[in-house]
Amino acid sequence: MKETKLWINGKWESTAELSELTAPYTGKIIAKVAKASVADVERAIEGAHKAFLSFKRTTAYERAEILYKVAAIMRDRKFELAKILADEAAKPLSAGLTELDRTITTYQFAAEAAKQITGETVPMDATPGVKDRMGYTKRVPLGVVSAITPFNFPFNLVAHKLGPAFAVGNTVVLKPASQTPLSALAMAEIFKEAGLPDGALQIVTGGGGDLSDTLVTHPLVKKVTFTGSGAVGLKIKEKVGLRKITLELGSNAALIVEPSTPIEKIIARCVGGAFGFAGQVCISLQRVYVHSSIYEQFTKLFVEETEKLVVGDPHDEQTDVSAMIHPDEVKRIKDWIEAAKQQGAVVATGAEFTDRTCSPTVMTNVKPDMKIVCEETFAPIVSIVPYETLDEAIALVNESELALNAGIYTNVFTDAMKAAEEIEAGTVVINDVPTFRVDNMPYGGVKNSGYGKEGIKYAVEEMTELKFITMKLTY
Ligand code: SIN
Repeated sequence: MKETKLWINGKWESTAELSELTAPYTGKIIAKVAKASVADVERAIEGAHKAFLSFKRTTAYERAEILYKVAAIMRDRKFELAKILADEAAKPLSAGLTELDRTITTYQFAAEAAKQITGETVPMDATPGVKDRMGYTKRVPLGVVSAITPFNFPFNLVAHKLGPAFAVGNTVVLKPASQTPLSALAMAEIFKEAGLPDGALQIVTGGGGDLSDTLVTHPLVKKVTFTGSGAVGLKIKEKVGLRKITLELGSNAALIVEPSTPIEKIIARCVGGAFGFAGQVCISLQRVYVHSSIYEQFTKLFVEETEKLVVGDPHDEQTDVSAMIHPDEVKRIKDWIEAAKQQGAVVATGAEFTDRTCSPTVMTNVKPDMKIVCEETFAPIVSIVPYETLDEAIALVNESELALNAGIYTNVFTDAMKAAEEIEAGTVVINDVPTFRVDNMPYGGVKNSGYGKEGIKYAVEEMTELKFITMKLTY
């Protein structure tokens, strides 16, 4: 049985306590994971601070080379890494390989960003009476970044924190989700091989809320970046004080399908957006508002396409949807579906359960206040709702307090622009599902879905301080 260790100051360190890691699909114990203590976390933060004092002096070229090398090593080890995702997260191999391709691109974007951190000159003589002065801005690293990451994209969402942090010269203490430590720990060796100095990346695993408290309140931590649930995000926000913070929280992503849409061309894409990684994606398609004139046809085709999906072992190349991350999640979502049914919702397909899986589920006849509509399901469930006017559809989308990505399919330019202007969301996707994301676009929610942006260039801004330097040119 594999026993993991903490990654502190470039070395593996064992802990007195271990916790068992269970594969979500088989229920078998696959590793015993090191449980960090608060003292371990403090040492990791102090080590990261020490490393920062020299890492901040590395050149952009040196940092870019490390990040390019990380991308190259990951490319060589892609299949082996995808198996880790299948084991610890029940991510189907095809989805895992897609995530790894994205992760490689994310580190490449970070390498490129390292070389593009620029400032601007400020026209000091624009103020009356001021002359013979120059001024310019530059972006400077912050210091130690605490990164707390979720289980759903264990490589790529870690890359969205490590990539920009290292690009600018910060150091990082990473606490991966308790369900997905193995992928994070694999990154320790990869960064070491790529030449990252010891101490610049520290990885602490296990432990509970007290670890996170230390990570977000320790005086040497200058920035906290968290992806996860809204409830935890809010608690972190209350504790960080004046530190910089980025929060990527959940959503219940909505899509409007206007009557001008050739629906047979978009069905497979919509089904993919709803059920990829069993819906455990912050921008998973959860609410589909379809114009009443095409509602029946859309729903029929959507159900037919959904029924083609294969539920099974994540290691099987045919599998589309595998286990949810924990049996408790299956119970939760079963209860939500049951509650919705009691209020009149109809299961158009799916809602078949084992202890570990929930089959792709399509609901109709739902109401806005049902949990499966107004909260984030983070499960393979989508609701299809008819509407009469675009104004009504936009109002339904905006009813939610969660607002990361939203989408609209329409062939009418003015309607597309109206939706772009009026939908309240971090991103409005026109003519694709809200699940669309590439890794250089700004990514982050509004309302209760988040605070700050990721997407490498934008994360670089969040991970640096803008410093201004001015000089008087004459005495
Ligand atoms: C997320 O679940 O927040 C990430 C989605 C993605 O990167 O595609």
